[in-house]
Amino acid sequence: MKHWFEESRFGFFIHWGIYSQTAQGEWARYRSEELGGNPATFNPINFNPQSWAELAWNAGMRYVVFTTKHHDGFCMFDSHYTDFKITNTPYQKDVTKELVEAFRDKGLKIGFYHSLIDWHHPHYLPDHDHPQGKNGETQFPAVNSNIYRKYLFDSVHQLMTEYGKIDLLFWDYCTRWKTPQYFDPDKLLQMIRTEQPDIIINDRMTYDRITDYKYICDYRTPEVAIPTIPPSSKWETCATTNGAWGYNEHAPLKTPPEAFQAGLVACVANNGNLLLNVGPDSLGQIPDHSTKVLRSLAQWMTWASEAIHGCGRASFTPPPLGIYTQKGKHLYLYLPVHPMAHFILPDLRDKAVAATLLRTGENVTLSSWGLEHACPNDVRLIPPPSIQAHDIVKITLAD
Ligand code: GLC
Repeated sequence: MKHWFEESRFGFFIHWGIYSQTAQGEWARYRSEELGGNPATFNPINFNPQSWAELAWNAGMRYVVFTTKHHDGFCMFDSHYTDFKITNTPYQKDVTKELVEAFRDKGLKIGFYHSLIDWHHPHYLPDHDHPQGKNGETQFPAVNSNIYRKYLFDSVHQLMTEYGKIDLLFWDYCTRWKTPQYFDPDKLLQMIRTEQPDIIINDRMTYDRITDYKYICDYRTPEVAIPTIPPSSKWETCATTNGAWGYNEHAPLKTPPEAFQAGLVACVANNGNLLLNVGPDSLGQIPDHSTKVLRSLAQWMTWASEAIHGCGRASFTPPPLGIYTQKGKHLYLYLPVHPMAHFILPDLRDKAVAATLLRTGENVTLSSWGLEHACPNDVRLIPPPSIQAHDIVKITLAD
């Protein structure tokens, strides 16, 4: 039985904060204070977490990771430890609470993104990744980092104790300017694992993200790239629908929507997950392009789901222009483009006993015709005329 994270394979990343007001992404405040958004005018009256959860679930996503606090320091939850928070906006409500309830009701696991970096807290020591240090400055007004460490500890404690079961924590991030030690990781992690014994925690509390600190991290987070050599641990590629995390009007849209099917399959085929991001706008609406992507995935998922959920790396080599995923005695051959020809499947001559087209349920012919020059262990797969790009052929293996 796989862990829920590997069973899920597909998650929903949401970058949302007051920065959505200026539509220039979540690093806007780093560039200039005015671009970072204003709590006094943040009023996302169209926020409807049930519809977000529905969209995500239908697209095949089985967990959500929500930005409880990004680098700007603004808390999207009703923090007991700062006034720089969602409940001090005209909207007043705790959006994290509403979101958690809606997604949990829909059956998704709950993940919190939480920034270790904080551009707002007066006792966070600035460095290169801070507006006050972005030009290489090294002299800052005196801070007491212990006060920031306590703030971080208390905030995370609140998130771990007041929102029910939390399945995943996504830190963001340590650097050579702020190594894990700055945040007092042992104390933090011990508290988190005590309050939420089943939680899994990402690798961004490490600096090199390579050393296997079992205690510190449970899964890897290669950013916007699918690793060639899959890590031996659980892993997840996070990616955007439009080249930006937070709402950004200038980011180029990634098209066509089907590109995300191929990306998801490529992650699963390497034993990993895809965490696909949307950046809702200041009214609480998911941008049209992202909605289109999610709806296109939903349509494909109505029949493709069994090739994704619970699947992983296959024990056979796929033919050119195909990607395999596998679950038990079923191999799934995904076709990113409309095939020009038949497929020669390595090593499946006596092992593949049947094949069907997942989308239609039609039988797909397996044959040894014309394979004199191929390996005697290979088999030819003849796609039916109805085959399309992004189809999946399910191949049943002998016991
Ligand atoms: C980076 C960025 C951040 C984004 C994250 C997503 O760490 O700083 O803005 O939230 O990647 O993985």
